[in-house]
Amino acid sequence: MSDTQERKIVIFDTTLRDGEQSPGASMNLTEKMEVAQALVELRVDVIEAGFPIASPGDFEAVREIAKHARGSVICGLARCRDADIDRAWEAVKYAEQPRLHVFLATSAIHREHKLKMGKEEIIQRAVEGVRRAVGYCPDVEFSPEDASRTEHDFLCEVTRAVIDAGATTVNIPDTVGYAMPADMERVIRLLRERVANIDRAVLSVHCHNDLGLAVANSLASVGAGAGQVECTINGIGERAGNCSLEEIVMALRTRRDFYHAGTQIVTQRLVPTSRLVANMTGIHVQRNKAIVGQNAFAHEAGIHQDGMLKERTTYEIMRPEDVGFAKTDLVLGKHSGRAALADRARTLGYTLSAEQLDTVFEQFKILADKKKDVYDGDVASLIEQQILTAAELWSFVSYRVTTGSGKTPEVELVLERGGGEFSAKMSCGDGPIDAIFLAVEEITQTTAACKDFQVHSVTVGKDAQGEARVEVEHDGRTYHGRGVSTDSMEASAKAFVNAINRIAAVTNGRKRREEHPDQTAPV
Ligand code: KIV
Ligand code: ZN
Repeated sequence: MSDTQERKIVIFDTTLRDGEQSPGASMNLTEKMEVAQALVELRVDVIEAGFPIASPGDFEAVREIAKHARGSVICGLARCRDADIDRAWEAVKYAEQPRLHVFLATSAIHREHKLKMGKEEIIQRAVEGVRRAVGYCPDVEFSPEDASRTEHDFLCEVTRAVIDAGATTVNIPDTVGYAMPADMERVIRLLRERVANIDRAVLSVHCHNDLGLAVANSLASVGAGAGQVECTINGIGERAGNCSLEEIVMALRTRRDFYHAGTQIVTQRLVPTSRLVANMTGIHVQRNKAIVGQNAFAHEAGIHQDGMLKERTTYEIMRPEDVGFAKTDLVLGKHSGRAALADRARTLGYTLSAEQLDTVFEQFKILADKKKDVYDGDVASLIEQQILTAAELWSFVSYRVTTGSGKTPEVELVLERGGGEFSAKMSCGDGPIDAIFLAVEEITQTTAACKDFQVHSVTVGKDAQGEARVEVEHDGRTYHGRGVSTDSMEASAKAFVNAINRIAAVTNGRKRREEHPDQTAPV
């Protein structure tokens, strides 16, 4: 291949696996399905849908995504253990193009302190794991965990052995985000030069962002010949996160002259997908985040604005529309029809079934009666609120609070569960929101310590909808919740109920695990 010929880089998205490992980011099945569909539409090559042995919820999500998502390879993660690999296959076998991803740590630190295994045993376990996976499907990826801190000779030895055993992708993780770009470049070059059978596999990288270098390290690896990059939407993931998909994709596209490499990503869907993932996980994108942040294309300085008016390229290296920032925030109103709403939903990154569209349209008409102009933010909130909470255990019905300065609030709250209504009437709390939260706890019999609470408007104007977000702690774990309404008190109640539903999903999953311990293993 000549130096200027363009290479195709495989984009392996792990938002639903490593991304979901971000504290408080857990998603329910409906949310995961929604994200998977958005990833398909973004045209990511591989979707790592989860770690099936980790929990029944993970298993179910991988299986459902494998059954329904079409167009991308669907991958399930497994340790080099028979039970893990068998369970991962049980979940991904329904996919049009399934992949099994097996991993085992190789660095001296992990060998000695975590695994208590010698080098020979590591190679043997890795080879056995890959062979078992190959017995199920031809597309098998192997990751030597903590590869960036593994002795180079040993890493070459493991890589050669797993490729001989049938691995078609070998992924080099910088598990703890320790590597510098020059380290990643060196290790990729070394593997390409010293591993005799390297041409039989795709070399991949998986970089964590502990030193803020995940994208730089991934780019350095691509420059050295890596053919696959593992990344997540908005860079979410364990600790400081992973390489951000939108940044690596746009870096490769913008500096095609430098890397001579490209991806098949539909870049216009980056912003809608980013927005969807932020809302599903409760992990906000900072305003100045590259590519998808609200300020990513905002020019403030007069000199810059002047330059932009004369010639856009003076200060802009990418066009906002190329990453999916809509040129206009098209306003809908009460005379807008179903087709306009469906079209808007698609532009915003949602694919609605006819039935879902019916529900959202009904809610849209109610909202359009309350407020004159319905903006993109309103439509997105309606969709998320109506569709994604459909599978929730508890739902909000109504509230009433009477309070005043120096008075203890009187609250009446009604929630619904399984078709029945449950209510609480009490005098409690430091203020109306506290009173509502206490009433939710009373009805659901669940305690959740509120760690963070924010309300902001979804769009503009006095009649704008308020979006409430809460972060709560229960049993040592963090959960988020989100609620939207034109009444900020109601939005707060919905957000707290949403968080309680997430707690219930995890608690019920744990109970199921205790009842069927054979189906899962600790991770
Ligand atoms: O960071 C890591 O090492 C991982 C592996 C499972 C690929 O996430
Ligand atoms: Zn990782």
